[in-house]
Amino acid sequence: MEPWTIILPAAGSGLRFGGDVPKQYRHLRGISLISYSVRTALSMPEVGHVIIAINPEHRAMCEHALSSQHLQSDRVLIVEGGTERQQSIHAALQHAVISDSSLVFVHDAVRPFATFDLYRRVGLAAMEHGAAIPGLAVRDTIKSVFDGGIVEATLPRSVLRAVQTPQCFRAGVLRSAYAHAAELGITATDDASLVEAIGIPVLCVEGDERNIKVTTPLDLLIAEAFLAV
Ligand code: C5P
Repeated sequence: MEPWTIILPAAGSGLRFGGDVPKQYRHLRGISLISYSVRTALSMPEVGHVIIAINPEHRAMCEHALSSQHLQSDRVLIVEGGTERQQSIHAALQHAVISDSSLVFVHDAVRPFATFDLYRRVGLAAMEHGAAIPGLAVRDTIKSVFDGGIVEATLPRSVLRAVQTPQCFRAGVLRSAYAHAAELGITATDDASLVEAIGIPVLCVEGDERNIKVTTPLDLLIAEAFLAV
């Protein structure tokens, strides 16, 4: 089996979180969020390289986060990200360590609780189908709402899934999807959307409720609570 590559987009400024320190460098029990993601990735024997896309202005912060947890390694590569998440991943995908036939996972650096089980569940599905993502059934009723606040439509809850990362693809599939998106100017909030746009079926497997994305200070409190139980 070819080694897996894990791309960790970590070039965001974390505006929604507030404060001076981007959320991926915020601490949870004294350890930065990004270090949790790198530690899990490196501890999987299937993983060849972890490619972190960063804002170059944060390089010192990133290197400190890694060195303080003894996570600096030849298996960790740092590349320059872009102004949007999509650009950050596009940059990382160009790296020569990724062969087209290998599997590549994209995982938000700010989801500290992704487990081996989750990576393996998604990876096995992608090995068979070419593209797989984790998702959870939604509990709330979801409506689309116009700018002025008027409800446009109520979406059928039974078919909806709240989608997470890690998302996993054959690298060649993901590269084609990114090339197509760049050519047509398509932007999306996850990688699977770009793969769907080139007509490749994406399999949705069971996600993990603990695999939250730390987006606001409240999420950091929830993450603390997870560590306490
Ligand atoms: O902003 P959001 O929560 O969607 O970011 C998800 C992940 O994408 C974060 O780990 C963030 O650092 C990363 N990102 C990036 N490049 C950007 C914006 C976000 O790598 N320009």
